[in-house]
Amino acid sequence: MSSPHILAIPVPAQGHVIPMMALSQCLVNHGFKVTFVNTDFNHNRVANALPDGQSHMTKDRIDLVSIPDGLEPGEDRRDLGLLTEAMRRVMPGKLEELIEKINGGDGEKITCVIADQGIGWALEVAAKMKIKAVAFWTASAAVLALKLNIPKLIDEGIIDNDGTVLKSQAIQLAPNMPAIKTADFVWACIGNETTQKIMFQFMVRSIQAVQVADWILCNSAYGLEPAAFTFAPEIFPIGPLLASSRLENSPGNFWQQDSTCLQWLDQQLPSSVIYVAFGSFTIFNQTQFLELALALELSERPFLWVVRPDITDTTSDPYPDGYQERVASRGRMVGWAPQQRVLAHPSIACFLSHCGWNSTLEGLSNGVPFLCWPYFADQFTNESYICDVWKVGLKFEKNETGIVLKEEIKNKVDQLLGDEIYTARARKLKEVAITNVEEGGQSNKTFKNFIEWMKS
Ligand code: UDX
Repeated sequence: MSSPHILAIPVPAQGHVIPMMALSQCLVNHGFKVTFVNTDFNHNRVANALPDGQSHMTKDRIDLVSIPDGLEPGEDRRDLGLLTEAMRRVMPGKLEELIEKINGGDGEKITCVIADQGIGWALEVAAKMKIKAVAFWTASAAVLALKLNIPKLIDEGIIDNDGTVLKSQAIQLAPNMPAIKTADFVWACIGNETTQKIMFQFMVRSIQAVQVADWILCNSAYGLEPAAFTFAPEIFPIGPLLASSRLENSPGNFWQQDSTCLQWLDQQLPSSVIYVAFGSFTIFNQTQFLELALALELSERPFLWVVRPDITDTTSDPYPDGYQERVASRGRMVGWAPQQRVLAHPSIACFLSHCGWNSTLEGLSNGVPFLCWPYFADQFTNESYICDVWKVGLKFEKNETGIVLKEEIKNKVDQLLGDEIYTARARKLKEVAITNVEEGGQSNKTFKNFIEWMKS
């Protein structure tokens, strides 16, 4: 009998492609074949980011293929409303064609589609083609539980049918879950009003589509979010997947990793370096970027800072005059870091992060405490987990013009690193994260059950 052949399709964003790739690698380790579907645009980015520019893009038993996202080459893919609508229009048909082509060929037929929960239409395509459908949610169970509760939020008059917040309050779905301010609802923190409405309607449709899925898997752990998983038992934790898969040069990065920073880390004292990174999407205005740069200088500690080529809204040199020379002896800036290996390095003291869910899992899987600077979407809820529920980090306060000042940053660095309790709690949480994916752990057991179901 041929082994199951899975088609894995992520939301076309860095923070979704990486965990879907981690899941695919786990499936390959269990003898499955995976066809991994990126958009053409991201497929090219992933190919270009691989050190040897692997053109055929096949890795082990993962076939990397692509379909169009519906936008023209020059159109703005950071406009999430525009991208979402184009995808919805074009991608279901293209996905169906791809599956028909694979299944019409000589190779193994697709036996299951694993789609990011955020693109419910892919689950609908699987159901239409009578193929097993599995939803994979790459963020916290708390945020998915909130999304699954959208109809109730509308019924209770907390939001309207467009997702517009009608009541300003904090929602706690169950005791011990993070309290989420209505202003921080995931759809209320994405782009302008038009984008928010488009994204909300899209989320509502994806929530309905999940009903055709046989499983809703989540890259989280019961031990990290016991209250959320108890509240929403239809969500099955299988993570943190990243804790167990720290592969070098794994395909999936949109930028080439600069591994030279690892040697630089080797030269630093244990638990001394501030690691500063804001994921793939965050953009700083020039004032805030300068304030952060000066804060790192003011801290007088070694730092490793990921400055993505597109991290500021300016095209000119974003640093203060003479900055790079002044900080050269103890500061290192890179365009894109091998983040999981950085966070596992013994010289890292803390993680100044935008609190993307992947960054959150990676930090806590390595026992690193956080300084939280959320930017959009689910990151405010993740900050609440880090600071209010797990108590392994501190939040920044903005001034009256919405800027986090350099003194505030420096003070919070000093406060976090001056009190051992944060690192001590972070180390305990690391044990929780790791135990869940180890043999006998709850995520591990769930994953094995899932594997058995896939083989059946
Ligand atoms: C987005 C959202 O921000 C996040 O909240 C949501 O849960 C997923 O989609 P992103 O902003 O990119 O993701 O952040 P994050 O979830 O942290 O994912 C970034 C990934 O890129 C991580 O796996 C991280 O290890 C990786 N990364 C980041 C690098 O490999 N190198 C870097 O220099 C920075």
